[in-house]
Amino acid sequence: MATTATAPTNIAVLKYWGKNPAFEELMIPTKSSLSFTVDGLFTKTTVEAKKRAGGATKPGISFMLNGKKHAPADREHRYVADFVAKVGMHHPAIDGYDYRIESENNFPTAAGYASSASGFAALIKAMSGEVPELSAIREDDQKLSALARLGSGSATRSIPSRGGFVVWERGVGYPPASSDTPKKAMERSVARTLFPPEHWPELSIIYAKVRAEEKKVKSRAGMKASVETNPIYNAWVDFEEKKMRPEMEAAVSKKDFPALAEKIMMASNNLHQICLGTYPPIAYLNETSFRIIEAAHEMNAGTLKAAYTFDAGPNAVLFSLKKDESRLVSALSSIVGRESLHISRMGAGAAFSQDHLF
Ligand code: PMV
Repeated sequence: MATTATAPTNIAVLKYWGKNPAFEELMIPTKSSLSFTVDGLFTKTTVEAKKRAGGATKPGISFMLNGKKHAPADREHRYVADFVAKVGMHHPAIDGYDYRIESENNFPTAAGYASSASGFAALIKAMSGEVPELSAIREDDQKLSALARLGSGSATRSIPSRGGFVVWERGVGYPPASSDTPKKAMERSVARTLFPPEHWPELSIIYAKVRAEEKKVKSRAGMKASVETNPIYNAWVDFEEKKMRPEMEAAVSKKDFPALAEKIMMASNNLHQICLGTYPPIAYLNETSFRIIEAAHEMNAGTLKAAYTFDAGPNAVLFSLKKDESRLVSALSSIVGRESLHISRMGAGAAFSQDHLF
């Protein structure tokens, strides 16, 4: 017996960038984040769990990614083993099994699309369907999202099955109130759908791959440095939590594209300002990223028709309404080439599948 699940990637428009130092091990964020679930870019994972007779106390793990078997010393294998160990701290019964795990991304791993979000979401969903002791949470999006987070923060938002416009709540205060315990943080820092994809089918999401010249600072190390060294970090958290979050939610609720576009661009600019104000500074955007930013602002003379957002790298994700999509695509094509674009829309979240990889 084996269980298979798929999970989509998601693009944050209000970014997660930093763990609450009081709950660092639990990966509780300093602030809430908002994202769109992306249709058509996903990871499929098949998990087989076999009860272990005895002997070793740690689960044995065999891991294959995109057809390549990874040895325990490989980085990819370590990520998976660390994740299983962390989930085991909350659900000790899973340590009693050995796991055969196979994963496939339906997009090229090196293409610049984040695969950790869809990867850890698909893995925990498949594990929950496969391990009998997790059966109570297999359809519990909030509990699954809390576990996905232990692999990668952005994976939290790839879980809610309805997908669409998703919030990942920080759940507890930053700094925490005296009543904010680890248990409360674990229960409340979860993701849920605010609006399903049907709410706004006219919204286009366009990935623009930008060639990276330099090795980037990994998000985990980068965000930790920002929390510890950026003197305006706490002010940014408050601004986003108190002002940007409600304004963005209202814009999506009203399907007010110009209002949403402005917030999306400001939130991206503010994340990269936080990165540059980190000591030593972190620069993720390159010249091509800035050409995309300029092209969007050129297109926005008059009414706002396009918005850009950037994560921990130079690749852009753009938003427009369907009616303005072709104009945006031709502007982007002249910068990165049509073959570097992927056009998508909002989609559903993690789900079980009968189509096993082995
Ligand atoms: O998923 P992580 O833990 O690598 O963090 C992702 C951070 C950003 O992609 C930059 C922002 C976000 O909210 O997805």
